[in-house]
Amino acid sequence: MVKDIESVLITEQEVKDMVSRLADRINEDYKDKFPVFIGVLKGSFVFMADLIRQIKICCEIDFMAVSSYGNKSVTTGAVKIYKDLEKDIENRDVIIVEDILDSGLTLNYLMGYLRSRNPSSLRLCTLLDKPARRMIPITADYKGFEIPDAFVVGYGLDYQEKYRNLPYIGILKPEIYTD
Ligand code: IMP
Ligand code: MG
Repeated sequence: MVKDIESVLITEQEVKDMVSRLADRINEDYKDKFPVFIGVLKGSFVFMADLIRQIKICCEIDFMAVSSYGNKSVTTGAVKIYKDLEKDIENRDVIIVEDILDSGLTLNYLMGYLRSRNPSSLRLCTLLDKPARRMIPITADYKGFEIPDAFVVGYGLDYQEKYRNLPYIGILKPEIYTD
């Protein structure tokens, strides 16, 4: 597995420090609120698990599973919902938790979908942001790292379902995903 990684882009410690900083901001901004965190599966599961343990306010968690990628490393534009919300988010303060904001297609679709359910507020928290590839102008309210236009894996992010268990964020060797 590690032999497929060209370089470590963000170390385990750097991720940890960033997750704490993001949680601090959310704790402050939502201190009198009762937000629902919605994790976008599968990529966000590691980030969600670490973030939520730094959240000090009372909150709820839900997940959605969507996919825009199939098994390719380039986006198709089509978004499919595999798992919908279990909670009613009407009049709730909602925070979407995403692993990476890339073209913006997935989140554009998802945010429209969630807005149609009338939350009282909707914000986006993403660990990674790849602005170079944006096709739809979306900005995150809470953003961890801005990264260059490279395909990254680890800390929940996959290539063909692999590498999610790496504790850091690494750049995959291009020869692994050129098809
Ligand atoms: P978007 O719709 O292009 O913004 O794509 C968002 C989704 O694509 C993310 O939730 C990831 O699952 C996936 N993705 C985008 N870039 C990468 C990457 O560099 N590594 C792994 N997955 C990625
Ligand atoms: Mg993925």
